[in-house]
Amino acid sequence: MCPSSRYNGANGVIVRVCPPSLYRSIVPQLAVLLKSCIDSNITMNFLQPFSLEDASEFWLAAEERVIQGKELVMIAQEDTKEPVTEIIEGSGEPSNDMTHDPSTQPPVVLGCVILYLAQTPNAKHRGEVGKLIVHQEHRKRKIGKMLLDCLEDEARKDGRTIIILDTQTGSGAEKFYEHIGYCKVGVIPDASLAPDGKRYTSCTFFYKKL
Ligand SMILES: CC(C)(COP(=O)(O)OP(=O)(O)OC[C@H]1O[C@@H](n2cnc3c(N)ncnc32)[C@H](O)[C@@H]1OP(=O)(O)O)[C@@H](O)C(=O)NCCC(=O)NCCS
Repeated sequence: MCPSSRYNGANGVIVRVCPPSLYRSIVPQLAVLLKSCIDSNITMNFLQPFSLEDASEFWLAAEERVIQGKELVMIAQEDTKEPVTEIIEGSGEPSNDMTHDPSTQPPVVLGCVILYLAQTPNAKHRGEVGKLIVHQEHRKRKIGKMLLDCLEDEARKDGRTIIILDTQTGSGAEKFYEHIGYCKVGVIPDASLAPDGKRYTSCTFFYKKL
């Protein structure tokens, strides 16, 4: 038995890896977060119009990889001081004596991030950041930093020694990553189409050695 990871912040927020058994129940909330980014014209793979169904489709397509442990989804939620569900190692299921634990109910998700654990034989030391999103009303509460701290700890636990990511050049996220100590590598100009389809956006690459 091993308890699921839990990170408490002074901001009244906890961050933890979403147990595979809870994943499907939080997909609607993850979809709201993703849709809000596309609606705000933040470059994140998709174009407008982008419905909640489209967003859910993205998250549901990841479910199998989440169950297989190839992707970990970190979530932030308000700290309700409830005990954390224990996960039976390997099964991804809540242990029997925790069946009525309220923390097995879908939490209200304030933010999320995906840790992609590279699977190719030459990249088992590498993790990649995806879909770091903090709810608009909860930004600048250190939630983004907590999510990345959790992501880095989980990557270390899996033997990963480097984290890589890319983000929209000139965005708040670019400033955020620089501010929290990620190393900027360079910019690919006009790498992606913005969600509104009206212009190309450049892409800045970052890494951090763990
Ligand atoms: C980028 C994002 C995740 C940051 O989350 P957040 O919870 O607001 O960030 P935090 O509160 O943890 O900020 C940590 C530090 O970074 C700084 N920071 C955060 N956003 C910043 C910005 N736009 N510009 C400059 N600094 C910023 C904070 O001031 C804080 O600094 P401090 O510790 O010295 O006070 C959030 O703005 C977001 O969801 N953006 C939209 C989605 C997106 O672009 N995601 C990136 C995809 S790759």
